[in-house]
Amino acid sequence: PPHRVAVVVGSLRKQAYSLRTAQALAKLAPDSLKLDIVTLHGLSMYNQDLETDAPPSDWTKFRDDINASDAVLFVTPEYNRSIPGVLKNAIDVGSRPYGKSCFDKKPAGVLSNSPGAIGGFGANHHLRQCLVFLNMPTLQQPEAYVGGIADAFAEDGTLVKDSLREFLQKYIDAFAGFVAQQYK
Ligand code: FNR
Repeated sequence: PPHRVAVVVGSLRKQAYSLRTAQALAKLAPDSLKLDIVTLHGLSMYNQDLETDAPPSDWTKFRDDINASDAVLFVTPEYNRSIPGVLKNAIDVGSRPYGKSCFDKKPAGVLSNSPGAIGGFGANHHLRQCLVFLNMPTLQQPEAYVGGIADAFAEDGTLVKDSLREFLQKYIDAFAGFVAQQYK
């Protein structure tokens, strides 16, 4: 069966380029992967006081979604040269309770994107700092700093930029190879 990939989207925006990119990746993915998009709407803020036998149900749902996956692909915008707070919160929620992180040992990929030219480099590398601690083996090459994303999609979200389609194809194929390698 294909390896299941949770594609965690770092933006809550309905028309987010990050979501559209995640959807495009799901279409381009080879048969060896099944991509499931995980959005962070309604994920409440981490609070250690609530880490009891009955944590908030939205935390449990998120942790279950990641636990059900074989790999995690983060697709995120950059906010203030770092990752959006919603994504950091999701990382914090998933990393607990202590010793039961849903992320532990899962192969990961990081794709940052921006309408700007730097392609979310700052977000990409801040996220990678977390992934080291989370013990997630992470695809290193190709790196994915997708700049100039504002002209990549039509009104209905269809990917219309050939150069981006080619890059996303290359990226998801490389990610598939990386995931296969981790599970061989
Ligand atoms: C941004 N944006 C942005 N862009 C960037 O390249 N570097 C940055 O540091 C920031 N900082 C930033 C902070 C905040 C609070 C917002 C709301 C936006 C612009 C950002 O790239 C743009 O809004 C994207 O469209 C957001 O991604 P989604 O929602 O389309 O995936």
